[in-house]
Amino acid sequence: MTTPRNHDWLDLAGKNVVVTGAGGGIGFGIAECFVQAGARVMVLDVSADLARTAAEKLGHGAIGVGCDVSSETSVQNAAEHLVRELGPCDVLVNNAGILRPGALATLSLADWNALLAVNLTGVFLCSQKFGAQMLARGRGSLVHVASIASRFPQGFSGAYSASKAGVVLLSQGLATEWGPQGVRSNCLSPGNTRSGMTAPILAVPGIEAQRVAMVPTRRIADPSDMGEVAMFLASERSSYVNGENISVDGGFGRTLLDLFPRPGFMREDVVGNS
Ligand SMILES: NC(=O)c1ccc[n+]([C@@H]2O[C@H](COP(=O)([O-])OP(=O)(O)OC[C@H]3O[C@@H](n4cnc5c(N)ncnc54)[C@H](O)[C@@H]3O)[C@@H](O)[C@H]2O)c1
Repeated sequence: MTTPRNHDWLDLAGKNVVVTGAGGGIGFGIAECFVQAGARVMVLDVSADLARTAAEKLGHGAIGVGCDVSSETSVQNAAEHLVRELGPCDVLVNNAGILRPGALATLSLADWNALLAVNLTGVFLCSQKFGAQMLARGRGSLVHVASIASRFPQGFSGAYSASKAGVVLLSQGLATEWGPQGVRSNCLSPGNTRSGMTAPILAVPGIEAQRVAMVPTRRIADPSDMGEVAMFLASERSSYVNGENISVDGGFGRTLLDLFPRPGFMREDVVGNS
């Protein structure tokens, strides 16, 4: 558990919040934030065991249900389960995502399709099924976990960047179609974040220090960093934010020009190696 903060200003207490892929990693951290803010959380994960264990850990009436976001039937069942157990959805956080690395020159169609099925089609299906409950009541908020790879291509990561760019445009389409009916849709784009996906990379000796040195905020993000932004986007405090994609990357995406060697004006020339 992260240190609880005061989230009263977000007014999320009692809201029904669904977080996909919340059996671990960023999704669990997001779910934890919403629980601390008094929301009623449904954890979805392709692993029913992970979903149930996560819900038990969260407590406060959280429920955990197995759901494969790439399956229409599975998502429909989860949406009906929510209504039976907690009532209609107020907030959907589309977080489930996978990475299938590979060179585009040799990537198999199976890997391409498998990744898009979860990362992009999953967002479409969950938005449609849970969004229907929002549209029926004329209010709700969709928050999609994209990636800084939605703005910059990440080499040798197969369909990952294309899937995340697709999520951003899908979100913008939802924002324009559903905005008039009281439903907003926004993305948050994590940079380097601790999770099951990144643990093996950060465990390689020296990698964490190298990565930290490249981020202006000088640390790797925790899942709660995404949770705080997800809660803001979910809440009425952001009621005039619609169709946006907020980078949560410690400033990393703004460092492109610093990659050019510029003798005499490099950081070490001006302020030393801090
Ligand atoms: N960790 C990072 O640095 C980082 C950076 C940018 C974006 N992201 C994005 O954040 C999201 C969460 O990633 P993470 O790092 O926590 O990954 P993770 O692998 O640690 O957790 C992902 C969770 O999603 C679940 N999942 C996988 N396929 C699913 C499916 N078909 N249906 C339902 N659940 C499924 C997994 O079981 C797992 O519990 C992903 O969309 C990822 O692309 C992560």
